[in-house]
Amino acid sequence: MKRAKQLSFTIAATCCFALALSACGGNDGKEKLGDAAPSEILVAYFSCTGNTERAAEYVADATGGTLYEIVPEQPYTADDLDYRADCRANVEQNDETARPAIGGTSANMADYRVVFLGYPIWWSEAPKIMYTFLESYDFSGKTIVPFCTSGSSGIGSSAENMHGSASGATWLTGKRFSSSVSKADVEDWIDSLTAE
Ligand SMILES: Cc1cc2nc3c(=O)[nH]c(=O)nc-3n(C[C@H](O)[C@H](O)[C@H](O)COP(=O)(O)O)c2cc1C
Repeated sequence: MKRAKQLSFTIAATCCFALALSACGGNDGKEKLGDAAPSEILVAYFSCTGNTERAAEYVADATGGTLYEIVPEQPYTADDLDYRADCRANVEQNDETARPAIGGTSANMADYRVVFLGYPIWWSEAPKIMYTFLESYDFSGKTIVPFCTSGSSGIGSSAENMHGSASGATWLTGKRFSSSVSKADVEDWIDSLTAE
């Protein structure tokens, strides 16, 4: 399909799935995206070692959406990410209240109806900076489509655990990619979301 041109999102269908989701506490991954124009799609991502960034670039290519990098105010060094030690990332992940500050420019969130949300898996969860991001904007009426990369873990409940930080949004089922994510993997996923 001609993804960037023909991405047709059906928000009404998405809302039905949201109702089903709230009724049964889960969904079956069969949601379809509707008629948002490429200019209404944001691809927001956080990435320390480039894997999620690559996936996000493929999502942006496939959808025509705009890339937005969630940049930490204090960059993560290699030591910060050394999860075999008592590193900064581990400390944050073990702290329910941790909300690492975001630097850089803000996203013009009002311009977007659909937000793809990319993150690496850290100890089976989304990094706490994703919570900072979600709690920084009003996502009411928007559709959030989570995706992540990891060494081996699945997406698990990492996306569901963020729902409370953007409760006005409709969340679609998330997708996990391997650290060596390929463009074809991402294109197949986008096709599955947009197929009639
Ligand atoms: C602190 C930390 C914790 C991690 N925890 C997991 C994990 O629980 N399961 C897993 O499969 N990979 C884990 N990883 C590996 C990352 O999820 C993986 O390398 C990811 O693709 C990195 O994405 P990035 O390059 O966008 O930062 C962890 C990495 C770090 C730094």
